Amino acid sequence: MDLKAQIDLTRLPRHIAVIMDGNGRWAKQHGKMRIFGHQNGVKAVRETTEAAAELGVEYLTLYAFSTENWGRPASEVNALMTLLVTTIRKELKTLTKNNIRLQAIGDIKNLPEKCYKELLEAIELTKDNTRMTLVLALNYSARWEIMQAVNNIAQAAKDNNIQPGNITETTFEAHLSTADIPDPELLIRTSGETRISNFLLWQIAYCELYFTPIFWPEFRKDNLYEAILNFQQRERRFGKISEQVSE
Ligand code: IPE
Ligand code: IPE
Ligand code: MG
Repeated sequence: MDLKAQIDLTRLPRHIAVIMDGNGRWAKQHGKMRIFGHQNGVKAVRETTEAAAELGVEYLTLYAFSTENWGRPASEVNALMTLLVTTIRKELKTLTKNNIRLQAIGDIKNLPEKCYKELLEAIELTKDNTRMTLVLALNYSARWEIMQAVNNIAQAAKDNNIQPGNITETTFEAHLSTADIPDPELLIRTSGETRISNFLLWQIAYCELYFTPIFWPEFRKDNLYEAILNFQQRERRFGKISEQVSE
């Protein structure tokens, strides 16, 4: 049966986050260079974005480049940065046409200048779009983000704008790069790896995790539907017992 038709649209995750993994291994399987895998990952990005928007998901966050990824060979890093620029430029029209707003989380100021500029421009041009927010995690690491928040809060305390002892979860969340974005309810990681790799550590406290062996370049709409259907079969208890949370 049609997977999409089985999804309960009244119980969609508001925010889906994806660790897009397996590009390199997919390329190797095909006897190609790693960058070939990254290039083919763009189609999966397009399909996933389209499928999420069509369903009515409000936020889709894609982990595109981690702070730790700078440690890869320079040729791969450079190729990824070039791909980023060309993809943003190419996809801008589609984002606009589909009423999708682009945002970014991570240390984006320290991306190569060309990437940073291209990204800011796309964010600015799509800022009034309302159908879905596509969040790119770029030069992102959750520990970086948390340390950033800690430093900002410490400075605010020093400046007497905040009192130690009054710092709440809400205060902390407001200093994360995801301020104003609801926590993800479903986190998907492709390629069979079952780890978080420094992604959204604070925000996934009660997130449902979904792992699939599919390599990212092969991820298609049906794979997203499968993940959502799996999510909808779960009982989210948030520390309570089943009888308390079932209607
Ligand atoms: C994910 O695929 C893309 C990025 C991290 C940029 P990988 O490049 O990590 O592919 P594998 O994990 O080596 O197969
Ligand atoms: C996580 O994938 C980062 C992104 C998908 C951008 P990695 O391939 O970098 O993660 P590890 O090294 O396998 O943990
Ligand atoms: Mg990987």
